[in-house]
Amino acid sequence: MTSVLVNPVSSSHKSIAIFASGTGTNAKNIIEHFSQHPFINVQLVVCNKPTAGVVDIAAANQIPALLIDKEKFFRGTGYLNELKEAQIDFIVLAGFLWKIPQTLVDAYRNRIVNIHPALLPKFGGKGMYGTKVHEAVIAAGETESGITIHYANEDYDKGDIIFQASCPVLREDSAESLAERIHGLEHKHYAKVIDKIMIEL
Ligand code: GAR
Repeated sequence: MTSVLVNPVSSSHKSIAIFASGTGTNAKNIIEHFSQHPFINVQLVVCNKPTAGVVDIAAANQIPALLIDKEKFFRGTGYLNELKEAQIDFIVLAGFLWKIPQTLVDAYRNRIVNIHPALLPKFGGKGMYGTKVHEAVIAAGETESGITIHYANEDYDKGDIIFQASCPVLREDSAESLAERIHGLEHKHYAKVIDKIMIEL
């Protein structure tokens, strides 16, 4: 398998592509965080769902949105050329539910991060996203949940963990109320953690 080295670090300026396919509250937060940054910018939003809220968020912030097709994403070099053309250095997954193909993992090794709305390795893996995660946490009688920011690799939710933060699960919690608390943690930490990693790149 050939791997393409994308945009090797040659200058101090760094560009992010956010991959998201949901409401996009994390994407919005990250875009706002980096909007005034001296040398890191959000250059592209990549989305597999034309109706996703994140597409509107990209437009409102004058950031191009690349709508991707599943077959092309998983075939050959996928969207590597598009990412290369946009000079993307770093990929942030924020509610993106497809597995990352091997070619993309190889081209962006240790340059793809994901956020998961639970304390991995618990409650991770295929099919574990959004509300389903919170329902499983409540059904298991957990008294604590949280967020995990980790490097993404070719397996769901298995890359090295970078950061975790926790919060209580209350007896009266519904999946929705827990999701809200978790979103609060995500918005508090994700952009800051990305910023820290990218400064050290
Ligand atoms: C976030 O809670 C994120 O942790 C989760 O999707 C939500 C997206 O919310 N990701 C996963 O479950 C990945 N397995 P957002 O669209 O409001 O940013």
